[in-house]
Amino acid sequence: MNQMRKNIISDKDTSLDYLKNKKISIIGYGNQGRAQALNLKDSGLSVSVGLRKNSKSISSVIKDGISVFEIPEAVRWADIICLLIPDTIAPDVYNSQIKPFLEDGKALLFSHGYNIHYKKIIVDNNIDVVMVAPSAGGAIVRKEYKKGYGVPTLLAIKNDYSGSAFDIIKSYSKAIGGTKVCAFVSTFKEETETDIFGEQAILTGGLPYLINSSYNTLIENGYDSTVAWFVCYYEIKTIVDLFHNKGFDEFYSLISDTARYGGISRGKKLIDKNFDLKLSSILEDIKSGKFNKELSKNIDERRSPESFKSLEDKTKEMLELIKNKI
Ligand SMILES: NC(=O)c1ccc[n+]([C@@H]2O[C@H](COP(=O)([O-])OP(=O)(O)OC[C@H]3O[C@@H](n4cnc5c(N)ncnc54)[C@H](OP(=O)(O)O)[C@@H]3O)[C@@H](O)[C@H]2O)c1
Repeated sequence: MNQMRKNIISDKDTSLDYLKNKKISIIGYGNQGRAQALNLKDSGLSVSVGLRKNSKSISSVIKDGISVFEIPEAVRWADIICLLIPDTIAPDVYNSQIKPFLEDGKALLFSHGYNIHYKKIIVDNNIDVVMVAPSAGGAIVRKEYKKGYGVPTLLAIKNDYSGSAFDIIKSYSKAIGGTKVCAFVSTFKEETETDIFGEQAILTGGLPYLINSSYNTLIENGYDSTVAWFVCYYEIKTIVDLFHNKGFDEFYSLISDTARYGGISRGKKLIDKNFDLKLSSILEDIKSGKFNKELSKNIDERRSPESFKSLEDKTKEMLELIKNKI
């Protein structure tokens, strides 16, 4: 318990002072890039954005009132360079457009430990290597900041050449809203392995596939697709909000007898010992680097799997219907 408290940093434990005289370049203006750049700017810090030549995002950076450079120029300009582009692309961009322009004592900041942990990006010893990883997508990072709040962040240091790496990550987390909730001091290894496991087991693997299979089971058994969509897809949000805000004890006390008994008895059947073994095997593939090797050979397009087609068509239809009624 004490160990946990020692690792937790809140707003009162840090200030923006360290970053006030520093220049920060955000490389990439996508999901995290835009949110973090705007939060840093609104926190009164000096921020620019680095983009590839002819990037489609140049106009939105200008519209948001932030200076924009090509990537090498953004690296030259800044003291702290934040690499916020897709992880699978980052090693090439780092080697060709960042590494040659990094000078002694600059800092490289990541929002995910993947490329450092798996040694896809090797940084010289005379550069600080740090991580501030928000526990949510960019839209939430921005929305919560605008509400005067934030999302939790994981912090880590791989290389502290300057001796100021801890000041950088504490202040950066504060500037994007992280310490308003809490910042947790972790490591590149822990963040990478747990983040990927959480995605695969629950967030982008287990949950979407469970929704899709449940929906298809009802359809194959002759039930109406709208009714199936409501119960397997639409209701997820209210249920997640309930246990996310209140914890499982209160969640189970607030639902009906049928939902509680059925959920617990059938949940145990679904998530049985065999399932636990599968989870362990998924984690082992992450820890051993097997998943990472597989990923390098399988960069795919950004859309849902073919097996989701029926659910996806229904979702589009229902979202359109709901939107038009409101
Ligand atoms: N997404 C999340 O929810 C989330 C949460 C926590 C941490 N993270 C981490 O945050 C980092 C950024 O992820 P993200 O999801 O924000 O990335 P993203 O939205 O996919 O990044 C898009 C940006 O990357 C740029 N880009 C793409 N290919 C490029 C290339 N070949 N050369 C130069 N720039 C290129 C794009 O440039 P154009 O504008 O020119 O197209 C765009 O500005 C990753 O390390 C990720 O793991 C993400």
